[in-house]
Amino acid sequence: MPGALAPSVKERLTLVEADAALPSDFAADVRAGLTARTKRLSCRYFYDAEGSALFEQICALPEYYLTRAELSILRAHADEIIAGIGDDAALVELGSGSATKTRTLIEAALRAHGGVRYVPIDISRSMLEASSRALLADYAGVEITAIAAEYRAGLRWLRRRPEPKLVLWLGSNVGNFGRGEAARFLRGVRATMSAGDALVMGVDLQKSRAELEAAYDDAAGVTARFNLNLLERINRDLGGHFDLDAFRHRARWNERVGRVEIEIVSRRAQSVRIDALALTVAFAEGEAIYTESSYKYSPAQIDELARAAGMFVQRRWLDDQERFSVNLLAPLSD
Ligand code: AVJ
Repeated sequence: MPGALAPSVKERLTLVEADAALPSDFAADVRAGLTARTKRLSCRYFYDAEGSALFEQICALPEYYLTRAELSILRAHADEIIAGIGDDAALVELGSGSATKTRTLIEAALRAHGGVRYVPIDISRSMLEASSRALLADYAGVEITAIAAEYRAGLRWLRRRPEPKLVLWLGSNVGNFGRGEAARFLRGVRATMSAGDALVMGVDLQKSRAELEAAYDDAAGVTARFNLNLLERINRDLGGHFDLDAFRHRARWNERVGRVEIEIVSRRAQSVRIDALALTVAFAEGEAIYTESSYKYSPAQIDELARAAGMFVQRRWLDDQERFSVNLLAPLSD
């Protein structure tokens, strides 16, 4: 009867829904975005069940080096990363997704301390439950408090829990924020931290146009499906009538601004009805819907970002091809 000796998976999992106050409103955002002069849709809506599955496929693409590069860094330095925190520190992850890469750090924490509390925060409740159950089944020494919330609500929840922690923000998720927005967001993260806490931030580095554009426009067309899934989601959730063959995916490196710009482009002049919004949207041939920015950083820009957020880069590790960085940030004393 092994269940009588070790706490069960169920006993080690607490699920918190923290985003009730400010749920994002897909319908209102689609209306605002598609009636604006420059059409846009927010990348936060990529991640329904279909989009989350497509993103997992992106992470395994030969052109999408980010996930593998970050994993190689975490594998090589997990013990060093964990060495800096106390044995009572929780691992708190912003945008945990499948939490595959996090396993390197969880294993390091278990090696160092025998047990660890993991606090994943993610907008996808289904992803959160699945990844939590998988972790608990694999690691007896892990306890999980899973927070179903967007970043903002997640940070609000964290501010009420001033326990020692190592915050993880992996996957270059910072790339979706403008540079000023990123600094503001990180100030919010800083506000949840006390002296002795730290932040592990994975950030993609600037590199050649060819490498970047291939990473966001893969030969197998998975990224294109991921992007166009936004239109499919409008069809599914809002009674939209988008013909996906009448649109195409585009990803271009804007070197001046330092970001990959991702758009959906109308192949021809057309009008599209969205029943639930009682709205018809007109597209000119070649007209674009801006869907995502993916900002890329130089090491100096990462230092600057940290400082703007009231922190400093204590350590930085790169993969052997120097494509990606994992940065350990600590609060500047105030
Ligand atoms: C999840 C925001 C890090 O910008 O690389 C991947 C999302 N979009 N391919 C990125 C994404 C298209 C990804 N982030």
